[in-house]
Amino acid sequence: MISGPIGIFDSGYGGLTVFKEIQKQLPQYDYIYLGDNARVPYGTRSFEAVYEFTKECVFKLFDLGCNLVILACNTASAKALRTIQQHDLPPGKKVLGVIRPTTEVVDQYTKTNKVGILATQGTVLSESYKIEIHKFHPEIEVFQHACPFWVPLVENNEIYSEGADYFVQKDIDTILSLSKGIDTLVLACTHYPLLLPIIEKYIPKGITVLSQGELVAKSLADYLVRHPEVEQSCSKGSQLTFYTTDSAQDFEQKATIFFGQEIQADHIKV
Ligand code: DGL
Repeated sequence: MISGPIGIFDSGYGGLTVFKEIQKQLPQYDYIYLGDNARVPYGTRSFEAVYEFTKECVFKLFDLGCNLVILACNTASAKALRTIQQHDLPPGKKVLGVIRPTTEVVDQYTKTNKVGILATQGTVLSESYKIEIHKFHPEIEVFQHACPFWVPLVENNEIYSEGADYFVQKDIDTILSLSKGIDTLVLACTHYPLLLPIIEKYIPKGITVLSQGELVAKSLADYLVRHPEVEQSCSKGSQLTFYTTDSAQDFEQKATIFFGQEIQADHIKV
């Protein structure tokens, strides 16, 4: 098999927060990031739409030479990953998501066995976090809350506005009111780590807030050690390539906020 870059897919910019950590922990590989900005958000769309859009983007990454694709998007991981893995994968191609790496280790953070999940409406309704956490840790109680305003706040660079404070405080209060004992909150959406400075203002002491980037990167590093045949199918040249289904210029500007460094992007049709 010809080796190729690792593909990183998200509905838009949010996956860059995960990609940043992956690239930090595994800088030796080539990567192609694909953001489906023309069709973002996925969080409010139907199962069928998220599945179709995700499949198109994953196959575009396969066409570009990727053998391994990471769905760095919670909504796509919740609604499309399982079906793609079971029905659509050509021989030698692999797709992984961001939910499992988080749910596997969440027991290491909670002492009360009460965990809150903050996510898009699509991820909450899919119940994927509840199902996956219960698979690994049946003793953990899971409380979920959708935060529909958080993605637009980040997308529109309104992180430090009064609106951000209002919605973040309201949503944190709501999830914490679901159970007194919640001691761990998972930011189960790729955009939410960008709101961390605001989130931390409204979190009472003693509550751990989990961002996924580092967990996903560590899990990928472990996966590549455990699957040498996949590791060998990943090319090593430290090249980063960025594609967006919308305007490349807009992507370059906003990507800096999410990725933490300037990047060059190209438009692509899927
Ligand atoms: N990337 C999505 C997620 O992690 C958030 C943005 C969207 O709704 O498409 O759920």
